[in-house]
Amino acid sequence: MDKMIIEGGEKLKGTVEISGAKNAALPILVSSLLCEGRSTFHNVPELMDIKTVVKLIRGFGAEVKGAKSIRVDADRLDNVEASYDLVKTMRASVLVLGPLVARMGRARVSLPGGCAIGARPVNLHLKALEEMGAEVTLQDGYIEAKASRLRGATIYFDIQTVTGTENIMMAACLAKGTTVLKNAAKEPEIVNLAEVLKAMGARITGAGTETITIEGVDRMTGAEGTVMPDRIEAGTYMIGAAITGGDVNVLGCDPLYVDALITKLIDAGITVETIPRGVRVCGGNGIRSIDIKTMPYPGFPTDLQAQMMVLLAVGNGLGVVTETVFENRFMHVAELIRMGADIIVQGGCAIVKGVPALKGAPVMATDLRASACLVLAGLVAEGKTELSRIYHLDRGYQRMEEKFSALGARIRRVPA
Ligand code: EPU
Repeated sequence: MDKMIIEGGEKLKGTVEISGAKNAALPILVSSLLCEGRSTFHNVPELMDIKTVVKLIRGFGAEVKGAKSIRVDADRLDNVEASYDLVKTMRASVLVLGPLVARMGRARVSLPGGCAIGARPVNLHLKALEEMGAEVTLQDGYIEAKASRLRGATIYFDIQTVTGTENIMMAACLAKGTTVLKNAAKEPEIVNLAEVLKAMGARITGAGTETITIEGVDRMTGAEGTVMPDRIEAGTYMIGAAITGGDVNVLGCDPLYVDALITKLIDAGITVETIPRGVRVCGGNGIRSIDIKTMPYPGFPTDLQAQMMVLLAVGNGLGVVTETVFENRFMHVAELIRMGADIIVQGGCAIVKGVPALKGAPVMATDLRASACLVLAGLVAEGKTELSRIYHLDRGYQRMEEKFSALGARIRRVPA
């Protein structure tokens, strides 16, 4: 297994181009399962999770070709089972459930287990499908869902769930009648997916708000779609510029998508300005400690919580990080402490007291965003950091070491 070696202390300088969003590309690729004919998707990031979803879609009988632009022909599907082997490597595989039941009348998908950031149940996905007339059973670790044709329903989500909203929005496209999703998640990736579904013939209004209305249609046909930029990747490089006292142009990502982060960086004393195609982030005038509370969009994203904790760890003063989306998303704290950070976790809060410097150390990644946090910590730390288990990073960041190296960081991948 490869490792990442980082020698800290360089100020990041230059320009970085943001890739397509993993969390938009995954549901968009899956949406092709609803369609007769061929779909083409552009700006798909080159990531492990994308390879996994391609494998999943091929397993149902679809033809898939290409990399950055991917063509999917799902005209003839001949299988409706997503195996444990694939689902265990990527929880988002559960997104195939809605489209398969809607198009094929049946799906058998391994029930995702818990993961490093929490129990992450899919009960709301299943309840919504039942409310649309599906018969859902759990057997031998698999979810089995059947419905000769789903019917429109009014669904109220107890909690805003991103993939839950996407799964049911896709299922409702081919249901009989109208579906109304209440307390739907509002993430921009959902809007991106809805745009693609509409190009395929779906009738959807309200994506990006708490109420999404979907009028079912009898068939959908393949279409073209473009994956939005990855706001979490953009945020990770913005934080990198801030903590190293650097000066970086982050291009290809609309500043609107990273609004919550920009506000927090400015509160912390970082200069952020809007430039054509992106934002410029300049650090170097000290970091004021701030408090952060993660919330569903448009609140501060949980997917940037770990990275932002590095900024607090080297800030001046005391900051509190409150995680409200996942119950166990502080796995990076123990590793940051090994690098000299002063952090205490109490329930869903981490109290971070800034220290003058972090020190390089061997550290281990536990999940995708925790890995990104440890790379950032390595970039700002004195000395050498060796990050192992970097397969987590490859799931969600396209060629991260190349992008950071181009900004002047001393970071390299070595075989373990
Ligand atoms: N939840 C339930 N029941 C459900 C569904 C969700 O209790 O049926 C709970 C979850 O346990 C969690 C909360 O609701 O406490 C919100 O979870 P959500 O369903 O929104 O998360 P998700 O759809 O599984 C997506 C992203 C995550 C991101 C979260 C929150 C994708 C493929 N994944 O997950 O991304 O953290 O939304 O924004 O879109 C990542 O990229 O590193 C990542 C983990």
